[in-house]
Amino acid sequence: MLGQDVVRAANAVGYARAQLDVTDRAAVGEAIGPDDVVINCAAWTDVDGAEEHEDEALRINRDGARNVAEAAGTVLYVSSDYVFDGTKRSPYLESDPVGPRSAYGRTKLEGERATAAANPRHFVARSSWLFGPGGKNFVETMLGLGPEVRVVDDQVGSPTFTGHLAEALVELARGEQFGIHHVAASGSCSWFEFAREIFARAGSDTRVEPCATEEFPRPAPRPAYSVLGSERAHRLPTWQEGLDAYLGVRV
Ligand SMILES: NC(=O)c1ccc[n+]([C@@H]2O[C@H](COP(=O)([O-])OP(=O)(O)OC[C@H]3O[C@@H](n4cnc5c(N)ncnc54)[C@H](OP(=O)(O)O)[C@@H]3O)[C@@H](O)[C@H]2O)c1
Repeated sequence: MLGQDVVRAANAVGYARAQLDVTDRAAVGEAIGPDDVVINCAAWTDVDGAEEHEDEALRINRDGARNVAEAAGTVLYVSSDYVFDGTKRSPYLESDPVGPRSAYGRTKLEGERATAAANPRHFVARSSWLFGPGGKNFVETMLGLGPEVRVVDDQVGSPTFTGHLAEALVELARGEQFGIHHVAASGSCSWFEFAREIFARAGSDTRVEPCATEEFPRPAPRPAYSVLGSERAHRLPTWQEGLDAYLGVRV
């Protein structure tokens, strides 16, 4: 999902998994050279599936990330709000201690560390709650439901439009401000508030009711609060602007 928007924003060469498997070290070494700037969007992204398949997720999110970082001249690893435990009640900053509670979060943190260890010219860009035209996402899921839905109101984050994120990542990767960056939409909401806004802005008459996370047990724990703030002055448009932009480009 994000990779397609990054390729568009950078006007760059993109590799889908079928063309380049990041776990294949030799293939990565052939495809990527020391003059290349690489934005690594490849990942195991099945959050619940990672609980039972942490080793496989690690092979992609950590070992694959290391392969890419070793081969590239400069590398940007896309990471996640799930590296935090979700107990804070003000935006997580780059310097805040990490504490992933899910297998997925642990593998993304390992990927951050493997990237940093393999290449000093690295960026780690953490984002959250992505939606965009290139993949399955919460907005599409909601618009496919009705006439009434129940959505959790006790997880708060910043829904981020991949079109906005991709442009910011490309700009970041062109600079020299290496290290960790939090890059997510401005503002925050719960999934329930996000759903309500989706139906309102899409002109749908689906009714949405709030509910608690415990009513929808999932294999992987989600952070209750994972709003990302930045000490490095990143400001993406608000999540509402992202939603409008997405509703304007979706087919
Ligand atoms: N979605 C979110 O809410 C969110 C939030 C924060 C951070 N992120 C991060 O953002 C990045 C992009 O995620 P996304 O939402 O765009 O997810 P996505 O649509 O699932 O994209 C991940 C891509 O990685 C590919 N991939 C998986 N294993 C690979 C391998 N071994 N070699 C090469 N490619 C491989 C997948 O290919 P297949 O589809 O063929 O398997 C898929 O195209 C990831 O790093 C993710 O952790 C996502």
